[in-house]
Amino acid sequence: MSAEWIIRPAERRDVPAILVIEESQFPEPWSKAMVLDEVSAAPNRRYSVAVTPTSLVGCLGLMFVEDEVHVNTIGTHPEWEGRGVARSLLDEGWNELRARGTRRATLEVAVSNTRAQALYRHYGFAPVGIRKNYYQRSGEDALVLWADLL
Ligand SMILES: CC(C)(COP(=O)(O)OP(=O)(O)OC[C@H]1O[C@@H](n2cnc3c(N)ncnc32)[C@H](O)[C@@H]1OP(=O)(O)O)[C@@H](O)C(=O)NCCC(=O)NCCS
Repeated sequence: MSAEWIIRPAERRDVPAILVIEESQFPEPWSKAMVLDEVSAAPNRRYSVAVTPTSLVGCLGLMFVEDEVHVNTIGTHPEWEGRGVARSLLDEGWNELRARGTRRATLEVAVSNTRAQALYRHYGFAPVGIRKNYYQRSGEDALVLWADLL
């Protein structure tokens, strides 16, 4: 957490600002319906946002499956990258994982996305395999990463 922004659960009113991050940061952005579904407080989902007094600067979507968590999405507004927004979202999420006793975390990341891979290394993620042609539009492969949390 920083003096500039706080982390809080996402609400329906955040969806337009989340879509701005989706559309500016992801080659295959989620639709409004997908983001709405993610934000709706399903018991196995946890979607948090980083907000300043005037804007939404980052988002993190987690999905719980038994004692594992899947990082569904993480993004920082382009004007706020490199200032620790993503790390503060993950730090806050990881506190919750420890409280829940979640054992392992997994995610997919594009092989070319070295920036996100560097971020994930801080949280103990390591590659265990490759999903060929994972991204439909580009045909790019994804690395499958896992981290032991205990
Ligand atoms: C990846 C992303 C979420 C990082 O967000 P961020 O708020 O800029 O990240 P932070 O400022 O918290 O930095 C965390 C770490 O990311 C890595 N990182 C951040 N900026 C970087 C850069 N310009 N080059 C290389 N690594 C970088 C570093 O490991 C950094 O740790 P450090 O501060 O100890 O060096 C952001 O760049 C983004 O939204 N990218 C597009 C969406 C995306 O790729 N999401 C992940 C999909 S799997």
